[in-house]
Amino acid sequence: MKTAIIYATRHGCTENCANQLKEGFQNSCDMINIKKIKKVSLADYETVVIGGSIHAGRVQSKIKKFCEDNLNALMQKRLGLFLCCMEQGDKAEAQFSGAFPAELRNHAIATEIFGGEFNFEKMNPLERVIIRKVADIEISVSNIDQQKIKEFVNVMNG
Ligand SMILES: Cc1cc2nc3c(=O)[nH]c(=O)nc-3n(C[C@H](O)[C@H](O)[C@H](O)COP(=O)(O)O)c2cc1C
Repeated sequence: MKTAIIYATRHGCTENCANQLKEGFQNSCDMINIKKIKKVSLADYETVVIGGSIHAGRVQSKIKKFCEDNLNALMQKRLGLFLCCMEQGDKAEAQFSGAFPAELRNHAIATEIFGGEFNFEKMNPLERVIIRKVADIEISVSNIDQQKIKEFVNVMNG
């Protein structure tokens, strides 16, 4: 049976992580960018991975809505949840809890925060100003944790 990776991304970080998961998964895998593909038929999939990123403290509203609208169906799947964000520790955990409903977090066989990236080339001018000020940095940075991606793949592959 197939796997679906359902994701949302603003500057491509979550999409890159989703592609890495796809490369590691043993099952055939469909990539579903929730902002581009409106209708998803979950009946086609035994395994579902959902990933989003945090901007101004929140996950993409389409990820939140997808989880809420499909809660019952998702509770029947082998489920993985992941998040990209720059906060770490308790703040990152709180963002993860806010991103996905408790039922899904408890049901998922893999849950992980992969880290994130600040990519100045892809930010709009307002974002650049905000990130320079809030994060106090001038150059692009990535702190994606490759080990966590590998572990997530291993758990999902069973
Ligand atoms: C304008 C802006 C606001 C952000 N706000 C947060 C935030 O509130 N908390 C956080 O942990 N990361 C925040 N980030 C970092 C993003 O989560 C990080 O860049 C992530 O890798 C984005 O993934 P994406 O390119 O798939 O959207 C912010 C990034 C930008 C550009």
